[in-house]
Amino acid sequence: MILGILKEMGNENRVAILPPEVIVLKNMGIDVMVETNAGERAFASDSAYTKAGARLAERKNVISEAEMLLSINPPVAEDITCFKQGQVLCCVLNPVVNSNWLEKARIHGLSVLALDLIPRTTRAQSMDILSSMATVSGYKAVLEAASLLPRFFPMFMSAAGTIKPSHVLILGAGVAGLQAIAIARKLGAIVEVFDVRSAVKEEVKSLGGKFIEVEGAKEDVAAGGYAVEQTEEFRRKQQDLIQDRAIASDVVIATAQIPGRKAPVLLLKETVYSMKPGSVIIDLAASTGGNCELTENGKNIVINGVHIIGKSDYPSDMPSDASKMFGCNIINLLKIMVDKDAKLSLNLKDDIIWGTTAVHDKEYISQSVKQLLNLK
Ligand code: NAI
Repeated sequence: MILGILKEMGNENRVAILPPEVIVLKNMGIDVMVETNAGERAFASDSAYTKAGARLAERKNVISEAEMLLSINPPVAEDITCFKQGQVLCCVLNPVVNSNWLEKARIHGLSVLALDLIPRTTRAQSMDILSSMATVSGYKAVLEAASLLPRFFPMFMSAAGTIKPSHVLILGAGVAGLQAIAIARKLGAIVEVFDVRSAVKEEVKSLGGKFIEVEGAKEDVAAGGYAVEQTEEFRRKQQDLIQDRAIASDVVIATAQIPGRKAPVLLLKETVYSMKPGSVIIDLAASTGGNCELTENGKNIVINGVHIIGKSDYPSDMPSDASKMFGCNIINLLKIMVDKDAKLSLNLKDDIIWGTTAVHDKEYISQSVKQLLNLK
């Protein structure tokens, strides 16, 4: 198989495959083509790719020669007409946001694999790009908060007196939230955590966080471990308690999301106005509406002395390791997509491939995509 790696557009600094992962792919018998300058912003030079055994080419040649194309974000819509019918494209699709793009790709006969739809199962764990990128986000969110905060995170006992540790409040203990707890604890902060899934209580405790329980949360096994929308009564109870804990905190890291829906609003405007000046809110749910009522996606704002950072693209700020993790996840996915002679086979009977394939043979395949796009 010929695998083509495309250069990312816009502000994206990552690249889907770095040179060390090219070596792994070559050893699997896969021929790798890389678009010129694809790794530039992830600190991977063209010569490093060539040395690893990749062939460099212009974008149009990569698209026309490769059987399978790989990118982090979906290529621009104008690229779709350059693809051949039956060509396979793997990217982080975000199907709700890119529904028009996907429809174009379907009509054109592309097979699109949405890497953000890889099932959250034990077998697919090593391919789970969402978890890898959430790990980066949770880590960077805490570091950014610590650098903006006009106070120390840890307790200090010095000749100049005792400095009390900072209080960090984490909203949502999924992959990013758990990573944020671990890093904030390592930096010496006191950490409190809210989540609607009772299953995370033990994990939060084992990382040294205090789980704040709000009674009456709705959970649904059918949601596959994800959160579901909560009742109005629960929301009010939770908001009162969050307001109370946020006012006592120096930092809030907000990560709460519900797949395919707007992020729940957990931090109200009034709460922000009651927080201590100098406090920091990092809203990782910014791209899906934000957990804080005042968040502006992609912006750093200061309201009443409180920093509100609306940022959902931290992985792009750490392109070396984020690209490395992305590439390793892809290699694990490719292991179930190529046979022993390195020939591509899209086996829709495999639950991982079936769950990840958004469109194939001009049809919508994945049940999750159909649900997210309200298709029958
Ligand atoms: P996510 O990004 O969808 O959401 C982050 C967190 O916010 C979740 O823990 C969610 O429960 C919480 N949340 C949602 N609404 C909330 C509200 N109103 N108030 C407070 N918290 C709220 O989550 P992520 O990181 O994608 O993980 C989702 C699930 O997938 C988890 O159960 C996780 O354990 C599971 N998972 C399974 C994997 C596997 O088996 N391969 C790999 C990674 C995650």
